[in-house]
Amino acid sequence: MLEGKKVVLAYSGGLDTSVCLKWFEQQGAEPYALYLDLGQGEPAVDVKAKALKIGAADAFVRDAKAEFAEEYVAPAIRANALYGGKYPLFTALGRPLIAKKLVEVAREVGATHIAHGSTGKGNDQVRFDVTTASIAPDLAVVAPVRDWNMSRPEEMAYAEEHGIPVPVTKKSPYSVDENLFGRSIEAGPLEDPNHEPTPDVFEMTTDPEKAPNEPRYVTIGFEEGLPVSLDGEAFPLAELIAELNIIAGEHGVGRLDMIEDRLVGIKSREIYECPAALTLVQAHKELETMTLTKDVIRFKATVEQRYAELTYEGLWFTPLKTALDAFVAETQGTVTGNVRLKLYKGSSTVVGRTAPHALYNKELATYDPNSTFDEAAAAGFIALWGLPARQWAGVNGGIQGSPAAK
Ligand code: ARG
Repeated sequence: MLEGKKVVLAYSGGLDTSVCLKWFEQQGAEPYALYLDLGQGEPAVDVKAKALKIGAADAFVRDAKAEFAEEYVAPAIRANALYGGKYPLFTALGRPLIAKKLVEVAREVGATHIAHGSTGKGNDQVRFDVTTASIAPDLAVVAPVRDWNMSRPEEMAYAEEHGIPVPVTKKSPYSVDENLFGRSIEAGPLEDPNHEPTPDVFEMTTDPEKAPNEPRYVTIGFEEGLPVSLDGEAFPLAELIAELNIIAGEHGVGRLDMIEDRLVGIKSREIYECPAALTLVQAHKELETMTLTKDVIRFKATVEQRYAELTYEGLWFTPLKTALDAFVAETQGTVTGNVRLKLYKGSSTVVGRTAPHALYNKELATYDPNSTFDEAAAAGFIALWGLPARQWAGVNGGIQGSPAAK
């Protein structure tokens, strides 16, 4: 069925996608490999050479870090997007971009199929498949790992049989996914939700107990809701994130341990390290409390939750998500200023904020007697604000005596 077809595969250089590549070749397909740099760190091997050796018709290595930061991470920061109120969605944000790039290569080489190495149990398959459906409905998606159900030993045997280099180092028990915006660690002993993660799980963050005894202060500058500087020095977003990962990670900031609801119905135990992501959303939210009205903040909270869900569930390129982007963008024009954080042994605490469009007004807020706030107006306001409560109490004898409570 794949005979003679051109297929573009998202290639990581690892065992799964290497086996996929060979498998495509064996089906008589013409496989192309695409390795995308989203800031996951240097690949362990020369991926291009490896793909060609395995049998790729051609192999492409592309750097998409800046595009990832600007087109995917930036809107998520403005939306304070945290799935389950915690997870900053780095993997979920990366998948639609990978799919988009697969489609681009498919157009370049005239492919009819794109392919990925996701299993049938996770969210990533959904994100790849639905993104492709959204932006290139004429292309078919193949997911060999989902279809063939090979165990790891079977994959190793297949690889050996076909001369694919098999990792010689002892395989870590964990399943790891990483990009610029964070790192996820799953599986192995972590599948017991009562098992505390051991030190070998972590790479981006220092154990808070071993973090420096001196706190580190960092000032994050925002312009219209986007992080633009660290301690006064301007950075393009991808570089700012990389820098902040180091700074906050060194102080043990950015670890999460959570039970997560996957789209396919499974609850999974997830460990995350995302120092920059968590501090950026924290600081951004803080700046919004200074610069947005109460009404906008309250309403935006519901948008943020929906935004996170759409992102998580693979609906990045859909009309609702696009419409929510427009709403969020509309709110960000005045979200400019600086937020100062104190990083200390695993905690990140906001200790200061300044903003040219601050709605915070010291003259109004101060307890000083010369405040500009008209306290005399308060009594009348409260009389009307409390009128429905007073009315209810008069008729029903207070909330305790209400008929419903009896
Ligand atoms: N649970 C996270 C998510 O669904 C991380 C998934 C990591 N993916 C992976 N293939 N290991 O976004």
